[in-house]
Amino acid sequence: MNKKQSWAYSPAPESTGHITLKDQYDLFINGEFIPSTGGKYFDSINPATEGKIAKVAEATKADVDKAVKSARTAYEKIWSKMASKERGKYIYRIARLLQERAREFSVIESMDGGKPIRESRDVDVPLSAAHFFYYAGWADKLQYAFPGRSPKSLGVAGQIIPWNFPLLMAAWKLAPALATGNTLVLKPAETTPLTAMKLAEIIQEAELPPGVINIVTGAGETGRFLVNHSDINKIAFTGSTEVGKYIMKAVAGSGKKYTLELGGKAANIIFEDASVDQAVEGIINSIFFNQGHVCCAGSRLYVQEGIADQIISKLRKRMDTLVVGDPLDKNTDIGAINSIIQLDKIKMFVNMGKDEGGTIYQSSCNLPDKGYWFAPTIFTDVSQSNRIVQEEIFGPVLAIQTFRTVDEVITKANNTPYGLSGGIWTNKGSKIFKVSKEIRAGVIWANTFNKFDPGAPFGGYKESGIGSEGGVEGLRGYVELD
Ligand code: NAI
Ligand code: MG
Repeated sequence: MNKKQSWAYSPAPESTGHITLKDQYDLFINGEFIPSTGGKYFDSINPATEGKIAKVAEATKADVDKAVKSARTAYEKIWSKMASKERGKYIYRIARLLQERAREFSVIESMDGGKPIRESRDVDVPLSAAHFFYYAGWADKLQYAFPGRSPKSLGVAGQIIPWNFPLLMAAWKLAPALATGNTLVLKPAETTPLTAMKLAEIIQEAELPPGVINIVTGAGETGRFLVNHSDINKIAFTGSTEVGKYIMKAVAGSGKKYTLELGGKAANIIFEDASVDQAVEGIINSIFFNQGHVCCAGSRLYVQEGIADQIISKLRKRMDTLVVGDPLDKNTDIGAINSIIQLDKIKMFVNMGKDEGGTIYQSSCNLPDKGYWFAPTIFTDVSQSNRIVQEEIFGPVLAIQTFRTVDEVITKANNTPYGLSGGIWTNKGSKIFKVSKEIRAGVIWANTFNKFDPGAPFGGYKESGIGSEGGVEGLRGYVELD
């Protein structure tokens, strides 16, 4: 219960009785679960309890090689030769099986990564299934996606994904690669491998030809083996800008294609003519959704001067009502921070924000004793040059500034190395058009935030990445055009 509240919701935990998890997950190569040649395992823990959930195999160079070989054989012998309509049917099958097992996947996603069940149930899992459905539809219609051109698959793709949306990032990567006729090796993040391993079960159940999808688990080293493997045609990566830069250097001159979806420091802009209460909810959603573990989070708030005091006071009140705690509880708004490493990074930035002279306000919620938690936090009295305004924190921490004119806020919004997303709140359509045209960001939401659809492309400018995922554009990264 929050200290300032005299009431609390009764606990409403989602049951875990319907899920099946093994104690140990091996690598998924050539349609089978096989142990790592190195014999090493690492634990995937539940960040809300610090308890171990399962042991997961650490893939060696030899394992990655085996996975790539299996993908290559499946590509040459089966997948690239199959009629595109038939490929589409397999992708539909994966989508349907995922829908059927949605409850199980949501619970496991929340246990393994710490996100509230409300989000994994209403966002991650349905949106993942939707991506498979969407790209299944494209499989036999590629000539319409690229009119007048003849799209050809690339071959074997190496796909490396992060821990903030584990299943959804797998879907974003797998579905377009399969639809365009590629085979692949996927590497999930080391803190959240479990829904990918459950997806491997679905892939078996869907009777996808062995080797079309291979899943290797491990940390950065396993990722490096994949990036540097000589028989990979494409690397698709979502994660930190630092690793993105490493990948660009590693593949330079190799002929490998790559798409990178990296960080962000989105500006969420509230004009005086915005609907205030709606905007406050939008701010909450933009930065506290998924503990702020969102590359497109609205981590910089710009409020027009005339309504700044009102917005900030309403925002503080609303922050105090947010329920922070058990990710499996249906009332929870904010779950656990994904890992101790991420928690330390957030704390480091918050201390830095104080040192830089910012005024901090944190929600008065009680945090559980065990697990990794961080209270929703806002900073005012910060300036454009402060590191908490410039750098990606990837936690529930918002830096607030004010502005007077449209041109001023556009300049401020563009003043970061990133350009992934942004938000505008106003009742004037003309302002929406002007601001969204002049802000260099891949997606700009108007009077809403963090809305996704498989048909809408997602990708960034500048250090936020190269290439887009989602929509017709998402197919582009997996084809060669004549
Ligand atoms: P990371 O970039 O290290 O991890 C992402 C994935 O890359 C994981 O699967 C990891 O095992 C793999 N990886 C790590 N080093 C690699 C290498 N040298 N070669 C190939 N693969 C490699 O991100 P990390 O350390 O988990 O998070 C650090 C920061 O990155 C976060 O605080 C956040 O700011 C940002 N981030 C951004 C994400 C986004 O969605 N754009 C997602 C996750 C993190
Ligand atoms: Mg975990």
